[in-house]
Amino acid sequence: MSPSSADRFGNVTPFMMLAMSDAKRPYVICHMLPSIDGRIVTRGWDLTSASREYERTAATFKADAWIIGRISMEPYAGKARVPARRNGARIPREDFVAAHDATSYAIAIDPSGKLRWNAADIDGEHVITILTEQVSDAYLAFLQSKGISYLFGGRSRIDLAKVLPALRARFGIRKLLLEGGGKINGSFLAANAIDELSILVAPIADGSIGTPTLFDVDDHRAPPRKLSLVAMEKRTGGIVWLRYKVR
Ligand SMILES: NC(=O)c1ccc[n+]([C@@H]2O[C@H](COP(=O)([O-])OP(=O)(O)OC[C@H]3O[C@@H](n4cnc5c(N)ncnc54)[C@H](OP(=O)(O)O)[C@@H]3O)[C@@H](O)[C@H]2O)c1
Repeated sequence: MSPSSADRFGNVTPFMMLAMSDAKRPYVICHMLPSIDGRIVTRGWDLTSASREYERTAATFKADAWIIGRISMEPYAGKARVPARRNGARIPREDFVAAHDATSYAIAIDPSGKLRWNAADIDGEHVITILTEQVSDAYLAFLQSKGISYLFGGRSRIDLAKVLPALRARFGIRKLLLEGGGKINGSFLAANAIDELSILVAPIADGSIGTPTLFDVDDHRAPPRKLSLVAMEKRTGGIVWLRYKVR
């Protein structure tokens, strides 16, 4: 799936040149389970096989890592106490790679350090959190004590153009599943950092105004992106699987 440098006749096409210029970052597949109206808060949907179908499909990508927004990560992270830190030298705002022997990664974007991690792994996948430099020293000390890796994505806001190559360089992540919610997906869309969509459309008409959707972009920063349909498939429980390349 990774972009090659030339077509089968040895010609480098403009599309491939674009893909090559991005080759220092992971290949990003946005994998989601929306309703027919693009809404993604699944509470109350009462679809027994849908999450199984979602996980089963995710596993087929054999990705090195998955990434989700701070809000979606809350239920996985836990409710540990972050100890106060009154003394001690300022902790430099430098990336921290904790000792680990995992080969796959669970990643959160948490710009102000709100996640209260219980552990440094989720089902054996090493946790990496993406922060801004505005987080407190107490929070950085907490992450280090838990053995959680962190990267700085910017001074006061996250710059995905900086974060994605760092994930590849520091952790060898070549294929990344972007798994919601709407805000993180929207930020990747705005940064033109999605290569492919894997959408399992649930047989649900949700209709809840104001709830998160597949892509929620701040300030309308992203121009609409054209997609190329690559495949469609009927799945169990009335789910339709749609795969697109982002042009
Ligand atoms: N159906 C599905 O397939 C599916 C999949 C995943 C999630 N979900 C659902 O989606 C809902 C949550 O979606 P959501 O859109 O509200 O939240 P979200 O995308 O999970 O998290 C958004 C938060 O993450 C941080 N963040 C993410 N990207 C950032 C960026 N580029 N720059 C700076 N900060 C960034 C910000 O944290 P701060 O607020 O701390 O600044 C932001 O408010 C949940 O109900 C979840 O269950 C559904």
